[in-house]
Amino acid sequence: MKLSYGKQSIDQSDIKAVVEVLKSDWLTQGPAVETFENDLKNYFGANHACAVANGTAALHLTGLAMGWQQGDIVITSPITFLATANCIVYSGATPDFVDIDPVTYTIDPNQVEEKIKFYQSSGRNVKAVIGVDYAGHPCAWEALKEISDKYDLQLVNDNCHALGASYFSDKKYTVKYADVTIQSYHPVKNITTGEGGAVLTNDSIIDEKVRKLRSHGMTKDLNQLENNDGPWYYEMHEVGYNYRITDFQCALGSSQLKRLDQFAQKRREIAKQYDESFSSLNNLKIPETHNSVDHAYHLYPLQFDFEKLSLNKTKFFEKMKKAGVNMQVHYIPIHLQPFYTKNYGFSSGDFPVSEKFYTREVSLPIYPDLSNDDQHKVVENIVKYLNA
Ligand SMILES: Cc1ncc(COP(=O)(O)O)c(C=O)c1O
Repeated sequence: MKLSYGKQSIDQSDIKAVVEVLKSDWLTQGPAVETFENDLKNYFGANHACAVANGTAALHLTGLAMGWQQGDIVITSPITFLATANCIVYSGATPDFVDIDPVTYTIDPNQVEEKIKFYQSSGRNVKAVIGVDYAGHPCAWEALKEISDKYDLQLVNDNCHALGASYFSDKKYTVKYADVTIQSYHPVKNITTGEGGAVLTNDSIIDEKVRKLRSHGMTKDLNQLENNDGPWYYEMHEVGYNYRITDFQCALGSSQLKRLDQFAQKRREIAKQYDESFSSLNNLKIPETHNSVDHAYHLYPLQFDFEKLSLNKTKFFEKMKKAGVNMQVHYIPIHLQPFYTKNYGFSSGDFPVSEKFYTREVSLPIYPDLSNDDQHKVVENIVKYLNA
């Protein structure tokens, strides 16, 4: 079996939790959804949590609930999954990017402020910033929060990679800084529901909007109805979607959340072993962790200076694949995607730190069930290739 960069960990307690719901009366829109939402609220210290079909749906609904629209500018990092930027496009707002910090690989707050000032000088305001806790390393949230307060911006955390991370020793950091936090529970993520995601916030108005949009824009809330024909009655005041998640997925989510601290610990142990194996090798750069941060290591992004090593990245990937190790690259900078170059005029050279990072980054296998032997196999094959 080939090793991949990420994989779920499912045990008997997860299976039991899902089977119990499969035997119950509710497969969807039942009590397991609310239970999972309550578990999320407790773990992440949020006043509200709305579980949805996937992380992309969470991003989509966030943009709508925050009122992004045509003419608004929303900024994110080029080093993230497509969905982070696409949600800006869904809302009709204009996406822009700010380069990453070369140490943490998260959005650089100083350049965020420069970009805001640049727009202000031409009479335009930035509406929101989406920080991405890339690889499991929280952004510089203190600095981002200061900027968002100073310039009256909305702050969103795409927290998909960082479940189990801490910021200033606090696992409940994200809702303290970001107005809205979104998560994904795809199988490669730090916990899974198969497909799944959530919107976390302390803002009851945002939560109410997200909840309504999750299910077609329908409401049965007596305070909101314009008419009331009887107990069957519902109304729709704006167009919504079916972005609901099922009860058996939520049962898995609740069970996985109980294991999250253990998962994060295991990821840290694996990362430590990689650090020890690679830190002394020339022209390799292990991921660094800011001293405010406990990294959640959704990814282990190792940088290779392929030029100095006189190696070809494609050949390296092929060799490793032959040896049974499927690696990945996270990510191709979004501003270089044809959709973004053609529609928004971005081009090569716009965000040099991200572009250089892309040429060097390789994501090594890291997940709780990765065995010691398999990790040795990854290290051995990389070292063998470097010495060939
Ligand atoms: C940073 C980031 N944002 C958003 C998403 C989208 O999540 P999903 O795949 O659940 O739609 C992902 C998942 O790949 C991600 O890694």
